[in-house]
Amino acid sequence: MRDFTRQEAEAVLFEAEKMEALLKTPEKCSRILPNRLVANMFFEPSTRTSQSFQAASSRLGAKTLSFHPQSSSAAKGETFSDTIRMVDGYSDAIVLRHAHEGAARLAADISEHPVINAGDGGNQHPTQTLVDLYTIKKLKGKITGLKIALFGDLRHARTMHSLLFGLSMFGAEMMLISPPSLSMGAPSIREAERKFNAKITAVSIKDLPQADVLYVCRVQKERFEDPREAIAAEGAFRVSAKLLKSAKKDLAILHPLPKVSEIDPIVDDDPRAKYFGQAKNGVPVRMAVLTRCIIGKGAKKRGQGEVVRFSCRNASCILRLQPAPQGGILGADGVARCRYCEQPARG
Ligand code: CP
Repeated sequence: MRDFTRQEAEAVLFEAEKMEALLKTPEKCSRILPNRLVANMFFEPSTRTSQSFQAASSRLGAKTLSFHPQSSSAAKGETFSDTIRMVDGYSDAIVLRHAHEGAARLAADISEHPVINAGDGGNQHPTQTLVDLYTIKKLKGKITGLKIALFGDLRHARTMHSLLFGLSMFGAEMMLISPPSLSMGAPSIREAERKFNAKITAVSIKDLPQADVLYVCRVQKERFEDPREAIAAEGAFRVSAKLLKSAKKDLAILHPLPKVSEIDPIVDDDPRAKYFGQAKNGVPVRMAVLTRCIIGKGAKKRGQGEVVRFSCRNASCILRLQPAPQGGILGADGVARCRYCEQPARG
């Protein structure tokens, strides 16, 4: 999300609206990216992001290359960078999901074609945030000034990190609700406050009646060092019909999905539950992103900011898997971050 200005994010949302309308005339859609090849490289499991990127590519007339790490030469020990270079040579754009933070940035550095981050470890999930912003705008007619409760595993969820940044950029007010062990990291909050003058407050679930949007996410088990802690955390919060009794009648309940146990299945029948429609919005939004990256102004965009010396110590950074030149970017908030995983220096 740090690659976007508000103006650019707004342009994507506007394009997505046009794509949604165009989906009613499939023959027109399929003339947008004919004869293009989009490589879907998912090193981590996915349903929505992988399927909606495939659907978006097909709707636009592009073809897709699929990649399965277990049946690729990555399983024989081929390096990440060699694998990326190969696929870059076969395609016009790469959609990449990886468990290591900064994998998409490193892939973009060594690729000739655009690389779209489809989720990198616990760092970012920018296209999910564009889907979320699009959904909120569609449901509420605006984003600025809304009170948005972020509820769940705010510490480990990349969706929450990207969303905090995206909502701050659009001037929403954020209410953070989580058990203490899953709270949002202070550097993310400080960055949004410094950069966007964002209003972010940690509150309790008792404050839910003030919210216009409730955005929930699951406990990100795969990011815990000790699985027992994840199991304990899962029992700490749940959205139930009883909890929603005190919420606004026009509350919108969103979730990036997959959901596990954090939302009672009975809530699916509540008209305020909008998460399945939110997932459907993934197609027009990703159509807009693909078009922008392949033939539009977003092509080959690099990380912004002054380059500074930086030695990354993040154990989840792609540099732990794939050696590459170290370096940092000085952000508009005055903080230096690893150019790959975007984590500030610790300690
Ligand atoms: N929201 C999301 O990223 O879902 P998937 O993991 O299924 O792609």
